[in-house]
Amino acid sequence: MKIALGSDHAGLSLKKVIIKHLEEKGVEIKDFGTYTEDSCDYPDYAYKVAVQVADNKFHLGILVCGTGIGISIAANKVKGIRAAACSDTFSAHACREHNNANIIALGERVVGPGLAIDIVDAFLQAKFEGGRHEKRINKISEIESK
Ligand code: RB5
Repeated sequence: MKIALGSDHAGLSLKKVIIKHLEEKGVEIKDFGTYTEDSCDYPDYAYKVAVQVADNKFHLGILVCGTGIGISIAANKVKGIRAAACSDTFSAHACREHNNANIIALGERVVGPGLAIDIVDAFLQAKFEGGRHEKRINKISEIESK
């Protein structure tokens, strides 16, 4: 499983924690920036990661900003992306099981590093359940095409 990561300056520290955790687990990752604490704009990094996931170059994406909200809103503008901003483990696995989310977004100003790691693990371990959820995902795709 290949994971694409990105953050703005407000999510940089938490992204580094998540990267260390994933590398220790042997997960293949690529960090699409930002790489410094200089102020930057979260849509730029949302887009870099979202296109990689939408083009199937990476299985899933992880985005971090101050709240997880702005960066998820931006990622969701890319066709084929279902980005979920999560600050609890239930949502983190449910967003894959029911919504087939392909990006999770976290807020460094919302969750601490321990919870963030649990959230990421819950997201990565979960599987889309298909069935009745499939047609709902298809309806999201139909809205995207309008
Ligand atoms: C940056 O200050 C902050 O606005 C951004 O990281 C994010 O929280 C936006 O949703």
